[in-house]
Amino acid sequence: MRIDILTLFPEMCETVFMESITGRAVKAGKLEVFAHNFRDFSDNRHRTVDDTPYGGGAGMLLRAQPIYDCFVHVCEQIGKRPHMIYMSPQGKTLTQRRVRELSQLENIVILCGHYEGVDERLIEKIVDEEVSIGDYVLTGGELPALVLTDAVARMLPGVLASEDAFVEESHYGGLLEYPQYTKPAEWMGRTVPEVLLSGHHANIAAWRHKQALLRTREKRPDLLAKREENGDE
Ligand code: ADE
Repeated sequence: MRIDILTLFPEMCETVFMESITGRAVKAGKLEVFAHNFRDFSDNRHRTVDDTPYGGGAGMLLRAQPIYDCFVHVCEQIGKRPHMIYMSPQGKTLTQRRVRELSQLENIVILCGHYEGVDERLIEKIVDEEVSIGDYVLTGGELPALVLTDAVARMLPGVLASEDAFVEESHYGGLLEYPQYTKPAEWMGRTVPEVLLSGHHANIAAWRHKQALLRTREKRPDLLAKREENGDE
């Protein structure tokens, strides 16, 4: 999979995705990530990317031209028109389900906004989807773009050690993960649930499923309601 990030701060993106699991995915050839500075595509000699809003108001807006030309450059590089995502607090909140769907695409391009936003005509012309990472406002789209890149990268086949690592984890089946324990069997007077020491796989699986349900009911009842809507067990 190839991800292209359109940003005013390419270094900020590059340092993060060369580390950790995304770094491993890049080194293993499962993921390519490129950060493009759309300032390089500005058509004026001061290389400006923003201007004041028509109709007045506080702050500056990103102009359509540099971002559009940068996008066309990326389309030419990859030889097609990729799925284009704009990171914005106005977007649909990102879910594990959407992450999984996006990880099945060959290419995505992610636009990071700044200042008071982007000229609406640019959004109309090239953006396929607006994505938010939660109901709060950040100073720019770089951190959200990195959140999306990380979440997608770990879903690519062969990036995590074992597929079970995400099949069983929190949010995958719409439930939170069951509690986990490692050695020693007793720590500060606290013991590990007996069933986990039994070696009885069916009982362990049943216990874990029940714990996942209990835990989700306690911490995130909204997720259980959504599962019922989807007809999951
Ligand atoms: N840009 C600023 N805030 C954001 C958010 N919450 N999600 C995505 N992009 C953003």
